[in-house]
Amino acid sequence: MTALTRNTHFCPGETWLDTDGKPIQAHGGGVLYENGTYYWFGENKDNDTRNERIDIIGVSCYSSRDLLNWKNEGVVLPAVQDDLQHDLHPGKVAERPKVIYNRTTKTYVMWLHVDSADYLAARAGVAVSDKVTGPYTYLGSIRPNNRDSRDMTLFQDDDGRAYLIHSSDWNSVTLISDLTDDYLSTTGHYSRQFDHEIKNTGRESPALFKHEGRYFIITSGTTGWFPNAAEYAAADSIHGPWRVIGNPCVGDNAALTFHSQDTFVLPVADKPGKFIFMADRWNKDDLRDSRYVWLPLEVNGEQLTLKWSDSWSLNEL
Ligand code: GAL
Repeated sequence: MTALTRNTHFCPGETWLDTDGKPIQAHGGGVLYENGTYYWFGENKDNDTRNERIDIIGVSCYSSRDLLNWKNEGVVLPAVQDDLQHDLHPGKVAERPKVIYNRTTKTYVMWLHVDSADYLAARAGVAVSDKVTGPYTYLGSIRPNNRDSRDMTLFQDDDGRAYLIHSSDWNSVTLISDLTDDYLSTTGHYSRQFDHEIKNTGRESPALFKHEGRYFIITSGTTGWFPNAAEYAAADSIHGPWRVIGNPCVGDNAALTFHSQDTFVLPVADKPGKFIFMADRWNKDDLRDSRYVWLPLEVNGEQLTLKWSDSWSLNEL
């Protein structure tokens, strides 16, 4: 029997093994922190995804206390095999799952981008569980504000209010939509941000976080699985006005976000003011082998800076 080695450093772009020694399957992911444990939710693409087939397996969950060594908690929202009409039928698309906890209803609420294989359905799906590691019960999907909704994220503010942030109007605009108190639907109140007006020229993969009362959003451009330049904006209120500042990446490959696309900004629980930038390095010819790019994100006033590192540890944050 070979002893499994423990991960001691973040190695962006390398294969990242879980505590069973298997490559982590949590693409387009996000992290929820609770009582000393981080829970990483993401797309499980561990099937034959050559030729850009993206058959749904489901949403995976992994847990970790140190952010380096992740235990596979299983597929917490699986594909639904026997119903062709179901949003989670394997022939469809389920991407970018994010989970937040509703303290009032004591429910874990997951939102994700659900779509038809041709990405024309463009809906936001919601699932719930009373345990963080699931299983999650799928409640259905909506077109928030009666519009198309593709790449998305969730943000829960200090006051308990939560928001769905999603690309809309054919990826020309980012909508920030208020969720209802139970987080299970949108209220109808939303703001339009970063309006590029022309189809597929707006922003994707929103990642929103807050530091010292200021909101930040990082997004990518719209080039599918191919990397492009990230852009960030800051605001004093979630509905803006948002000030577009620029690309947080510096150094070689900054214009390609170091060959990755952002998915989430993770606040490190015991290090206030320290954040990890989480991104996907998609391998469109074999999506299951897409790698993770996690890097320290420096926040200085209104400025974000992201530098490449081959290998780093939390002590360096
Ligand atoms: C990207 C998006 C991914 C995935 C991909 C499909 O732009 O961010 O989540 O949908 O397109 O081509």
